Amino acid sequence: MEKVAVVIVGAGPSGLATSACLALNSIPYIILEKDDCSASLWRKNTYDRVNLHLAKEFCSLPHFPHPPTAPTFLSKKCFLEYIDKYVEKFNINPQYCRLVESAIYDEDEKKWRIEAKNTQEEEKIEVYESEFLVIATGENSEGFIPNVPGLDEFEGEIIHSKHYKMGSKYENKDVLVVGCGNSGMEIAYDLSNYGACPSIVIRSPVHIFSKELIHRGMTMLSYLPVHLVDALITLLAELDYGDLSKYGIRRPTKGPFYLKELTGRSAVIDVGTIKAIKNGKIKVVPAEVVRINKKTVIFKDNFEKEFDVIVFATGYKSIANSWLKDYMYCLNDTGMPKNSVPNHWKGEKGLYCAGLSRRGLFGVSMDAEAIAHDINKIRLCLGDG
Ligand SMILES: Cc1cc2nc3c(=O)[nH]c(=O)nc-3n(C[C@H](O)[C@H](O)[C@H](O)COP(=O)(O)OP(=O)(O)OC[C@H]3O[C@@H](n4cnc5c(N)ncnc54)[C@H](O)[C@@H]3O)c2cc1C
Ligand SMILES: *[C@@H]1O[C@H](CO)[C@@H](O)[C@H](O)[C@H]1NC(C)=O
Repeated sequence: MEKVAVVIVGAGPSGLATSACLALNSIPYIILEKDDCSASLWRKNTYDRVNLHLAKEFCSLPHFPHPPTAPTFLSKKCFLEYIDKYVEKFNINPQYCRLVESAIYDEDEKKWRIEAKNTQEEEKIEVYESEFLVIATGENSEGFIPNVPGLDEFEGEIIHSKHYKMGSKYENKDVLVVGCGNSGMEIAYDLSNYGACPSIVIRSPVHIFSKELIHRGMTMLSYLPVHLVDALITLLAELDYGDLSKYGIRRPTKGPFYLKELTGRSAVIDVGTIKAIKNGKIKVVPAEVVRINKKTVIFKDNFEKEFDVIVFATGYKSIANSWLKDYMYCLNDTGMPKNSVPNHWKGEKGLYCAGLSRRGLFGVSMDAEAIAHDINKIRLCLGDG
């Protein structure tokens, strides 16, 4: 058994950021990662054309800003180079191929007991003991697919956005994209570029902006109130796009930044999708999927159409509760923080979570700093520091 002050589970941006902040406070930690590399979500589970949607000043990890020479909007490649430099700079050495299967709080010892499977060495189980445990396994750990009647008997291909790479293999195919968040909208666009015939389900109102306009909004938020910024950028977007309701796209009555704060849901960044919708390369289906019958998808109001492929861009869920037995000290039953923002990151019994506040890399950074600061404070009080 290995004993250490802090165990971090997950070597994505959240785990790496927390590691760096702990290291700066000379707090010993171990970071356990199930995959064989850091930031595996970005390296392995994103579509090829994905780039950062937010400007670089909102996408850096603590104590290592992007240089002035970096482009405002980083490509996936640039971002991964940044991650590699980060790992090197803070001398982070994740223990790779360690799938954490269980973490329990021992009331007598006042310690966390963590069990990880070493997937390289004949599935050996390793045990760690720590005073503090940081959940950094991400909001995106498992793809979520809704339970549509008849889905099991669909005769075409079904794929979650997490496994979508690029549209080349879907040329001339009728593809239905379910879900109109950032992934769904971008995948529909990608498909249209590769000669597929994509349709996208957009049934609820959605905010769509160019990334430049969102950047301007985020900058304005530091000196103007949310409602004003919302009104301004919505007006500018409407001037830009014209009336989108004839294409089946309606805007929510509440503003984009207000909704982000309230629900955690982000506005959609337009990467070219709107133009493709306007010129008919992407069709909008403004009704929800009711059921599936062999090759046919039946929508509300009895509209139906045959498809070769269905892409579910219906989001993700946190599955921290499946390995973290005593999750109730920090999370609720859905694997998300039980305390609301800004007090979400701290649980009881030395349990913390980083990167579960639905605030992207910006939130990741804030969580990591708050957690390291808190652990440092507690250790100094106890005389361990
Ligand atoms: C397509 C897409 C685009 C995005 N674009 C942006 C953007 O432009 N800007 C932005 O700010 N955010 C964006 N995000 C949000 C994204 O979630 C964050 O950028 C970031 O990856 C979150 O980091 P994380 O470390 O919390 O989670 P992750 O990156 O998911 O890392 C979690 C890590 O934990 C590991 N893990 C999980 N379970 C276990 C276990 N049981 N044992 C051991 N290890 C485990 C995983 O293998 C993974 O490496 C995007 C997300 C997606 C899916
Ligand atoms: C769990 O917490 C998340 C946010 O932290 C919240 O959105 C969700 O509604 C909560 N779920 C339950 C079942 O309490």
